[in-house]
Amino acid sequence: MLVTAIIVAAGSGKRIGGRLPKQFLSLLGKPILQHTLEKFQVCDDINKIVLVAPQDMCSELPGVCREQWHIEKLSRVVPGGAERPDSVWAGLSALDHTDGYVLIHDGVRPFIRVEKIVEIVAAVKKYDAVVVGVTPNDTIKIIKGQFAVETPARNSLVQVQTPQAFHVDLIKKAYTRAFRDGFVATDDAALVERMGKGVFLVRGDHLNFKITSPEDLKIAEMLLQKQDD
Ligand code: C5P
Repeated sequence: MLVTAIIVAAGSGKRIGGRLPKQFLSLLGKPILQHTLEKFQVCDDINKIVLVAPQDMCSELPGVCREQWHIEKLSRVVPGGAERPDSVWAGLSALDHTDGYVLIHDGVRPFIRVEKIVEIVAAVKKYDAVVVGVTPNDTIKIIKGQFAVETPARNSLVQVQTPQAFHVDLIKKAYTRAFRDGFVATDDAALVERMGKGVFLVRGDHLNFKITSPEDLKIAEMLLQKQDD
């Protein structure tokens, strides 16, 4: 069965500064998105890559990805939507059920390790729905207004990241139902959970963080520099 990676990179997040969305900012001379795509390019367990990108970059990106970044597994670049779920759906719509399994990954998480991708692919073939996550380092509180009212045990909590991986038919069904019901969630697995299906947890590491702020960009540069040493 085929395994596709959908990389969502259609956000317009320009909080970090500059005119480019954060996924196109440079990290030691390479765009963040290129670092991310390379991880899936070199992983033998990934057969093809669908990139979801801002509408105005969709014509130039296929050439850039294939010729300059050497992402030979790139099969399509499709325009994203207003919110992340719309962009994921645009990527899923580029697949059909013969595609087997899909890993959905944020373009702004360049520190995913290739060995972790391999582990996630093996798990999704067994369980059909998989998230990667870590135990939170901090204690998490439930709040009501300005007051903390409850403290869930840390070992019952998990902080989830991407990739999140699914059987293509299952995640398409979950998205169709969520759109129909007006259900909005902050990750893809939540849509599968509400169908009553358990999502298998693969333990990840805190280094697979999402680059969101200027501080994250600095930390990312320091990490990469260390890896290069
Ligand atoms: O905005 P957030 O940090 O949650 O974005 C996570 C990933 O989802 C980023 O790679 C971003 O480009 C992508 N995204 C998208 N389409 C949107 C919003 C976010 O592809 N409308």
